[in-house]
Amino acid sequence: MEILDVGNNKINGTFPYWLESLPMLQVLILRSNRFHGSIEVSPKTALPFRKLQIMDLSDNEFSGNLPTKYFKNLLAMMDAHSDRLTYMGEDAYNESTIVVIKGFFIEMEKIQTMFTTIDLSKNNFEGEIPKLIGKLKSLKGLNFSHNKLTGPILSTLENLSNLEWLDLSSNELVGEIPQQLTNMISLEVLNLSKNRLAGPIPSGKQFNTFDNTSYSENMGLCGFPLSKICGNNEAPQSPTTKFEEEGGYGFDWKIILVGYGCGIMIGVSLGYIVLSNEKFTLFLIKIGFSNLLYA
Ligand SMILES: *[C@@H]1O[C@H](CO)[C@@H](O)[C@H](O)[C@H]1NC(C)=O
Ligand SMILES: *[C@@H]1O[C@H](CO)[C@@H](O)[C@H](O)[C@H]1NC(C)=O
Ligand SMILES: *[C@@H]1O[C@H](CO)[C@@H](O)[C@H](O)[C@H]1NC(C)=O
Ligand SMILES: *[C@@H]1O[C@H](CO)[C@@H](O)[C@H](O)[C@H]1NC(C)=O
Repeated sequence: MEILDVGNNKINGTFPYWLESLPMLQVLILRSNRFHGSIEVSPKTALPFRKLQIMDLSDNEFSGNLPTKYFKNLLAMMDAHSDRLTYMGEDAYNESTIVVIKGFFIEMEKIQTMFTTIDLSKNNFEGEIPKLIGKLKSLKGLNFSHNKLTGPILSTLENLSNLEWLDLSSNELVGEIPQQLTNMISLEVLNLSKNRLAGPIPSGKQFNTFDNTSYSENMGLCGFPLSKICGNNEAPQSPTTKFEEEGGYGFDWKIILVGYGCGIMIGVSLGYIVLSNEKFTLFLIKIGFSNLLYA
């Protein structure tokens, strides 16, 4: 079996773990049923869902953390197929599947194997967005909207260069929108509305194309395209602050300048004393160099 679509029924039960072992399953659609309970399991199969590309569990009553273990396998699958572009069901004919793309139900005649989407929207999932998501490079669409997810939006999502839609709306996400997300060059639809996000909205690239409904109902967000202007302490991130953030040093600019001065002074004065000790001299050179980099 390659495609299992039991969407829009009244199936009441827990997640059907036994589907894990179907080696050819590529599309799993459980959308709009009454599935409930947690999917936080240790998979019973060595390679669960080994060919899965479309996972649509939307509009059910699933709870607990997001099923990270299944994402792990999706990652393995993406790596294996990353340079092949074939179509599912090439032997069969007349296959079609309804997939939700950017909010529209679209009937796909044949599904490219590179086409990968995860839709876990409209459930009761909680906890944070797993870091692993940032590694699912061939992901085209990700919808975690209408859940109870907490924690920050990870800057590692910037690696999702094929992602065309990202919907994290109606959750309990906090913190700022990472400036790095402007590196998601394929992004066409972004929805971060109805969360608890704060700070300036990143600008540049794709972010100049989203309108203010992408950000509505977040008390703390400011800047274009919202009408709320950022205050002094929340001005849009300048290249300097971005650099510090990426390096993760978090140093105050003044301290770095002072450090640069001291680095040279210590380097020069001690360097003469211990010139014979090679290791120590190297150490001093390193300090001097890194201070130069900061400056
Ligand atoms: C699902 O079935 C259980 C009993 O098996 C019942 O208690 C529960 O209300 C049902 N849920 C829905 C949404 O129908
Ligand atoms: C995400 O899922 C919600 C609920 O299922 C839907 O209304 C919304 O249109 C989806 N967003 C995108 C971008 O597809
Ligand atoms: C974002 O989602 C909200 C509802 O959760 C909706 O009203 C709004 O139109 C959506 N915006 C975009 C850009 O999809
Ligand atoms: C969103 O933009 C519209 C005009 O495009 C404006 O009327 C509205 O006030 C804006 N909303 C917010 C929350 O900035």
